[in-house]
Amino acid sequence: MRNETIAGLDIGTTKTCTVVATNTPAGIEVLGVGEAPSTGLRKGVITDLEETIRSIEAATERAERMSGVHISEVYVGVTGEHVHSRNSRGVVATSGEDREVVAGDVRRVVEASKIIDVSAERQIIHALPRHFTVDGQEGVADPVGMSGGRLEVDTHIVTGGSTFIQNVLKCVHRAGLEPAAIVFEPLASSASTLLPEEKHVGVVLLDIGGGTTDVAVYTGGGAVHTSTVPLGGNVLTNDISLGLRTTFAEAERVKRAYGSAANDEASADESFTVKSLDGRLTRELNRAQLRAIIVPRLVEIFRLARTQIAERVPRDVLLAEVVLTGGGAHLQGIETAAAQFFGVPARVGVPTTVGALNDAVKQPQFATAVGLVMFGPKADGITFNGRRHHAWSRLAGWLSDMWN
Ligand SMILES: Nc1ncnc2c1ncn2[C@@H]1O[C@H](COP(=O)(O)OP(=O)(O)OP(=O)(O)O)[C@@H](O)[C@H]1O
Ligand SMILES: [Mg+2]
Repeated sequence: MRNETIAGLDIGTTKTCTVVATNTPAGIEVLGVGEAPSTGLRKGVITDLEETIRSIEAATERAERMSGVHISEVYVGVTGEHVHSRNSRGVVATSGEDREVVAGDVRRVVEASKIIDVSAERQIIHALPRHFTVDGQEGVADPVGMSGGRLEVDTHIVTGGSTFIQNVLKCVHRAGLEPAAIVFEPLASSASTLLPEEKHVGVVLLDIGGGTTDVAVYTGGGAVHTSTVPLGGNVLTNDISLGLRTTFAEAERVKRAYGSAANDEASADESFTVKSLDGRLTRELNRAQLRAIIVPRLVEIFRLARTQIAERVPRDVLLAEVVLTGGGAHLQGIETAAAQFFGVPARVGVPTTVGALNDAVKQPQFATAVGLVMFGPKADGITFNGRRHHAWSRLAGWLSDMWN
């Protein structure tokens, strides 16, 4: 008998990626992955429905062909500046006999934390419990079964613009798929690339995509901040195309082949040729000249991410490491540049999976799609077509996997 399959759909600014996977005792096994170019989005937001639908259909068909699995339901990633996050708190009196916390109290307290000011045009995407407090005892991971009369929870709440979300869902539906839930992309990318120890100690995740850089900060095992910077790898390419007076495609080629963010004396003089705009002339440049175009923009992306983090993450939170993922993390020397800028060690994060496709998906651009199948089934509930996503039945299991 075939195990239950789970599918993730990452509609990016440069590519759409569908992943279908199954849960094995050793971890998530990817059965199929499909990619298709995406041109219907700008900075995470859909600007062309038809293009986006075509891209979803193409990526999904490829994943189906590779896996032999028919995909009907998908966890869908969303991002963009319309997505906002904040931390909240909920408090309830416990209802169990003998003042014992029961699963229903956990559900109620998380619901209580969702009672926040959300304007009419926005909706809550996630309410992620970070830790519980039982009768004043803080830092409780799983309160079910504990004695106490008062249960509190600290949650990380993510909200998104309803219209933006509706447009994503419309494309998913029209591509013949049923959305199981939507997930804010940095949470998905974190699920596939960050280690439990990193999330515990304190880590910053940057998913540098084509149009956006998604940011997540974890401490004490839970997300304390998520946001998005409206710049990604495409601005580096744009700058190169303007600076070298060449096409976007040629600039992209040069960036991937010769671009670097680190000051590497040995290769600084290495030269390469670039085609002019009309493709008829070529010019010779060296890597140091290319680096001079790339680095200021990369630093701008880092600076914007750092500003968002500084505004929202309490100063006493230790951030011990930066993990870079997304296609932009392929840039040579990016770890060195990030380590220098943030003053902590940096590494490139790739999804960790098991099985035959493990090597194929170990690429930073698949962090979100693979993360969707990891995080998706655990994500907080959301209503589609009046049908409530059955996350709560799974919450107990999720809490115990997360903290045991
Ligand atoms: N070898 C490389 N060197 C530098 N940049 C690269 C390399 N390979 C890919 N990129 C960049 O990665 C970016 C695409 O990343 P990714 O596939 O994660 O984006 P996306 O998910 O489509 O976009 P977004 O997340 O912004 O919606 C592009 O800007 C591309 O130039
Ligand atoms: Mg992306």
